[in-house]
Amino acid sequence: WPKDVGILALEVYFPAQYVDQTDLEKYNNVGAGKYTVGLGQTEMGFCSVQEDINSLCLTVVQRLMERTKLPWDSVGRLEVGTETIIDKSKAVKTVLMELFQDSGNTDIEGIDTTNACYGGTASLFNAANWMESSYWDGRYAMVVCGDIAVYPNDNTRPTGGAGAVAMLIGPNAPLALEQGLRATHMENAYDFYKPNLASEYPVVDGKLSIQCYFRALDRCYASYRHKIQNQRKQAGANQPFTLDDFQFMIFHTPFCTMTQKSLAHLMLNDFLSASSNTQSSLYKELEAFRGLKLEDIYTNKNLEKALVKASLDIFKKKTKASLYLATRNGNTYTSSLYGCLASLLSQHSAQDLAGSRIGAFSYGSGLAASLFSFRVSQDASPGSPLEKLVSSTSDLPKRLDSRKRMSPEEFTEIMNEREHFYRKVNFSPPGDINSLFPGTWYLEQVDQLHRRKYARRP
Ligand code: CAA
Repeated sequence: WPKDVGILALEVYFPAQYVDQTDLEKYNNVGAGKYTVGLGQTEMGFCSVQEDINSLCLTVVQRLMERTKLPWDSVGRLEVGTETIIDKSKAVKTVLMELFQDSGNTDIEGIDTTNACYGGTASLFNAANWMESSYWDGRYAMVVCGDIAVYPNDNTRPTGGAGAVAMLIGPNAPLALEQGLRATHMENAYDFYKPNLASEYPVVDGKLSIQCYFRALDRCYASYRHKIQNQRKQAGANQPFTLDDFQFMIFHTPFCTMTQKSLAHLMLNDFLSASSNTQSSLYKELEAFRGLKLEDIYTNKNLEKALVKASLDIFKKKTKASLYLATRNGNTYTSSLYGCLASLLSQHSAQDLAGSRIGAFSYGSGLAASLFSFRVSQDASPGSPLEKLVSSTSDLPKRLDSRKRMSPEEFTEIMNEREHFYRKVNFSPPGDINSLFPGTWYLEQVDQLHRRKYARRP
């Protein structure tokens, strides 16, 4: 099979407007710091009625194709991961064919995959599997993931967001998926789900969702370590795998403090499996907790606080940079993990990243989770695939700064408007297309038969 299948290029899209989380704290009359410190969120992007999941994906695919300057017939597989379902039958992928079919390229495998925030990762795995199979025809694959994360006007609303990521997948990639190293945990849980077809909002058991996420993380980490240690044994080496072996670690990020706690979890896993005479200074602060079980962290806030404190340095080194987009744009469900990847690239130089291993944890409620890893290529020289990929993300801060800050009142009005137009027919969405970023696709009209028409802002 082809060598080093992975991410060759990526593109991130987020809406051109946001609400400030400090403003939202005041508006919702909660304690100052609850969203900004407690959840670690500073801003939240949101879409007007003019944008839906199809338009988000159209925009991000168009931008990726324009950036890479690839011909439309160079893509042989297109996968979409999303949980923003506007049609129970027609896939977002079929709408994206509008971009490809004019070039005559209709020979493109792949379709939508759905399970909460996990669909993007399932799509990535599908794309890589295709490329490593007898069905690969030598062309690129593209993985598109995106969501509009919206909640009712209660304590869940500040954990919303919106965005999409498109990734070009091919061999000899600067971010290569590590072969044989995927650890998965799946189980039946009702932590976050969308049974209500009349509403865009999920049903959420927030506290349960956090426990499910951590349990899935712990299980995946144990399984990943087991698999990599087996690989090492086969190669004649015997050293145990620890967090030190991930130079960087990214997570699905529903809110940023959750991610910081997740890294602390991995540290606890290492601590509990290390022998009791481990001298590592990293673990000194944890000695008081020796004898506890892994599950204790789910309920013991003192342990959680001690772990977060003890892991602060490694958080700064391995993970903090990956939260740049998430803290400013919020949760984007299927694309959250890949937005974190883009952030990590945007905050480091190619030299910093060269040769490293990036661990990635993907979680989708319901639940489906995987821990896998990327190997970053060694060549960081100017013009190398790695350097090009890294520099393509350098405009993230500038693009985020150029968004329009909306008041909580305006945000709430737009959320109400989304509720009003949800599943309506025969309308043209209200709003000024000039409030979108140039080049953005938008919903122009929904006709009597629910057929959606899109146009592109010049
Ligand atoms: N200053 C500083 N911190 C404050 C504060 C203040 N004034 N007031 C509260 N806090 C802290 C709290 O102590 C808490 O931190 P700790 O957990 O570290 O103690 C944090 O702010 C949040 O406060 P609460 O726990 O009281 O918040 P809440 O119960 O009102 O809601 C939530 C939080 C459960 C995450 C809710 O927003 C929610 O359900 N969101 C949607 C579900 C979700 O995101 N789940 C995450 C895992 S599931 C997943 O990952 C899939 C997915 O994408 C949805």
